[in-house]
Amino acid sequence: MANGKRDMASLRGKSVLVTGAGKGIGRAIVEYLSGLGAEPIALSRSPEDLASLATAFGCRTIQADLADADATRAAAREALPADLLVNCAGTVELQSAMDTTVEAFDRTMAVNCRAPLIVSQEYVRPLLAEGRSGAIVNVSSISAFIGFAEHASYCASKGALDGLTRVLANEWGRHGIRVNGVHPTVTLTPMAVKAWSDPQKAGTMLGRIPLGRFVEPAEVAAAVAFLLSDEASMINGVALPVDGGFLAN
Ligand SMILES: NC(=O)c1ccc[n+]([C@@H]2O[C@H](COP(=O)([O-])OP(=O)(O)OC[C@H]3O[C@@H](n4cnc5c(N)ncnc54)[C@H](OP(=O)(O)O)[C@@H]3O)[C@@H](O)[C@H]2O)c1
Repeated sequence: MANGKRDMASLRGKSVLVTGAGKGIGRAIVEYLSGLGAEPIALSRSPEDLASLATAFGCRTIQADLADADATRAAAREALPADLLVNCAGTVELQSAMDTTVEAFDRTMAVNCRAPLIVSQEYVRPLLAEGRSGAIVNVSSISAFIGFAEHASYCASKGALDGLTRVLANEWGRHGIRVNGVHPTVTLTPMAVKAWSDPQKAGTMLGRIPLGRFVEPAEVAAAVAFLLSDEASMINGVALPVDGGFLAN
């Protein structure tokens, strides 16, 4: 903000590693950041999604399954260097608490919490060595705060991700690297269709959102871009709901 401008100009020309870039919110983040003149590096799983991202936004792409710890680390190393990082990839498997399987729980924790740790470690390593500043945004969820039925693994993973965000904000904030979370309510991406396409469930959820609608992926992307930018230069370790007032209700 040295030039006094308040248009997220600090993002222009910055390379931003975005996980889960193939669909939904991650794809919207790539589009939003590209529109601000940043240079996203797209990490995702489906080769078709990555090919279409490269065509649409001219971005570098890296394919990996973030449920695999070694593949995650290798992909993060391949992606670097990056000025900024967004951990957006996430997964959900709907099961009642009693029916939650060890496999689903472990897979969800691996993608939603362990992968952000591994990618963040690799992103930060060269920054610490070179004394450079940076910023990370972890895409969490209002599910970190609310115990939605049939979301035991998911809610646990997002609560764990928030704990990770705070630790990284503490340890790495001392080196000029800010780490924050954004917490969207429902946005009707391929993931959310699984849980919220039933009109009855969607209606109940909408009734709890004072603004009366679900969030658009681009509105989540705007919050992410703000937290990455120098305009958020003193914001570190926060959980930012993008929820139309759901949590205030
Ligand atoms: N949608 C919502 O209502 C909502 C609300 C709050 C928070 N969120 C969070 O927002 C983030 C994005 O969600 P979304 O709704 O955009 O989901 P989405 O539409 O399902 O997209 C998720 C993206 O992450 C990728 N991904 C998932 N598992 C992966 C893995 N194991 N390895 C590599 N990439 C993987 C997917 O790739 P493939 O399709 O190729 O697997 C896809 O590109 C998630 O962290 C989610 O928890 C979503």
